Amino acid sequence: MKKLVGIVGWRGIVGSVLVKRMCEENDFDKINPIFLSTSQFGKKYFFLNKYYLIENAYNIDILMSLDIIITCQGSDYTNEIFFKLVSCNWKGYWIDASSNLRMNNNSIIVLDPINKKFIKESIENGIKVFVGGNCTVSLMLMALGGLFKENLIDWISVSTYQAASGSGAKSVLELLSQMNYLTKYIKKDIKNNFSILDIMHKFIFLTKKKNFPKKNFTVSLAGNVIPWIDQEMSNGQSKEEWKMKSETNKILNIKDNNICIDGICVRISSLRSHSQSFTIRLKKDISISSIKEIIKNQNQWVKIVSNDYNSSKIKLTPISVSETLNIPIGRIRKLNIGKKYLSAFTVGDQLLWGASEPLRRVLNFLI
Ligand code: HSE
Repeated sequence: MKKLVGIVGWRGIVGSVLVKRMCEENDFDKINPIFLSTSQFGKKYFFLNKYYLIENAYNIDILMSLDIIITCQGSDYTNEIFFKLVSCNWKGYWIDASSNLRMNNNSIIVLDPINKKFIKESIENGIKVFVGGNCTVSLMLMALGGLFKENLIDWISVSTYQAASGSGAKSVLELLSQMNYLTKYIKKDIKNNFSILDIMHKFIFLTKKKNFPKKNFTVSLAGNVIPWIDQEMSNGQSKEEWKMKSETNKILNIKDNNICIDGICVRISSLRSHSQSFTIRLKKDISISSIKEIIKNQNQWVKIVSNDYNSSKIKLTPISVSETLNIPIGRIRKLNIGKKYLSAFTVGDQLLWGASEPLRRVLNFLI
């Protein structure tokens, strides 16, 4: 019998990508979907040639009747609902895109091209909670999985370049409004050939105006970078930076938390897909050709990009990778610092491998 699968948060940015991917892979043929909403319940939803009644995502009786719940609704929803279901002794599987159950002892962070064996063992051992990893962590592991598997990594220092959509639909809309605002006031100056210093001065002046759209970021993201993502931790890291080491070790099931990864996470004005620049200290000196072989053989999505200007600008950018499952990795070379120091740059669609795709795939394991 097909499993009853409740889907919550399917209209948000991650949820929409999830549903699109599930349609592309015919996942809806394998389940009985129940669409739940925190605000639109009671309405009808026309989907794949059928009307569905949207159920109340807060109705515990309905949730208790489900075999699997997959939620992209966010941490507040998980906090409110998950523990209520547990206290009612719900026996179903909980698949979650939000972060708050990630580090629980009874949850697994899913990224099956990297930890499929661990996921399958966990299902057999009765684990019921499967959580998607942080986007940059998942994308980093998809790119460098081979080096981790061969135990070649001593440590990684990383700088991220994270797209506006990583902080939700409202951030994308705000960035576009900022671009629109700036263009509106500068268009004429460009046409009239004003001095470039005057145009740039005006740009900066405009971003500081009271009516400049910056409710969400509080500063301009257009023409800017913001070197901080998520909450402040007590040790000077941002929470996004803290996740790098803790989640990587959990995904790889390394008990003593000994793979060291740290760096700076930065929001930039790309719309979709996160990029990352790595300095990697290897455990031994190994040739670039062997490194490329090891990287490309780990999974079918990682693609080596040749270390030259044209390939990098065509194949190693957010625009080139968005809406695909590809994980290009390039700028691979030994750094002048020493033979064990490797540089690499990767980019991946954070809404796919960084959010929805691992959830869709674990759903398939469970059904
Ligand atoms: N924390 C990420 C970001 C979202 O802010 O870009 C992807 O998990």
